[in-house]
Amino acid sequence: MIENGEALALQTEGISKHFGAVRAVDELSLSIPRRGTTSIVGPNGSGKSTLVNLLSGVLPLDGGIVIIDGVGLRVVHAYETPDHGLTRTFQEVRLFDQITVWDNIMVVLTERKLFPSLFERVRPANRRKAQAILESVGMWEKRDSLAMELSYGQRKLLEIGRAMAMDVQTYLFDEPFAGLFPQMLERVKDIMKQMRADGYTIVFVSHNMDIVRELSDRIIVLDSGTLLAAGDVEPVLGSPEVIEAYLGA
Ligand SMILES: Nc1ncnc2c1ncn2[C@@H]1O[C@H](COP(=O)(O)OP(=O)(O)OP(=O)(O)O)[C@@H](O)[C@H]1O
Ligand SMILES: [Mg+2]
Repeated sequence: MIENGEALALQTEGISKHFGAVRAVDELSLSIPRRGTTSIVGPNGSGKSTLVNLLSGVLPLDGGIVIIDGVGLRVVHAYETPDHGLTRTFQEVRLFDQITVWDNIMVVLTERKLFPSLFERVRPANRRKAQAILESVGMWEKRDSLAMELSYGQRKLLEIGRAMAMDVQTYLFDEPFAGLFPQMLERVKDIMKQMRADGYTIVFVSHNMDIVRELSDRIIVLDSGTLLAAGDVEPVLGSPEVIEAYLGA
């Protein structure tokens, strides 16, 4: 274990993931401070989702270290990341389709305690929490619908709600805005702004530069699995190498 400064939510030291000859993430070192919103951008195939998968333990590291909230890990187990204070959503939404919206949240609130979960479900504290989460993602009215009955946008909202139910410090959102109609897009933006105001660390991947500009305190630009630039939004997006990476993509 490697102890690190309090100020960083996430850090990587030389992490890599190769798929055959493709260096999806290549000896990448970066850091993401606690609190505020950091966006991850880059051309298609630049390694954004792979990075999120490595940070959240969905893919094993080929090399390097992930440091979550000061704890250095050479092996990141997905099931352990909430204990380190981190959770994520997927570019392709993942829900339990056959159960209700309400149960999709309840499962997260109680699933980490297997047998007690039978009793935990009826606890008023959990019921209040589930209601608060569903209200904050605008899905309270839909609580009795099956997840499979939801629209694409509603599925995205529910997935964000499920992430919130993990009750961690750091949230990674892989393309939370992709494919959303304007009204839904505004709602997801509002949720992320509220989470930021509540003191959480928000990291999101997006191709929408207007949203990146509006929401981000900092930006990380990937290109071919490496760090092209990082820092304040406007200087980074205006830098010649970033412009070239996008135009060349
Ligand atoms: N499971 C996999 N097997 C083989 N190659 C993969 C796999 N996952 C990703 N890749 C490759 O790794 C590279 C990075 O992919 P990744 O999905 O991380 O990019 P991305 O930046 O998220 O792209 P997008 O903007 O399209 O979502 C791409 O060349 C991709 O084809
Ligand atoms: Mg991706």
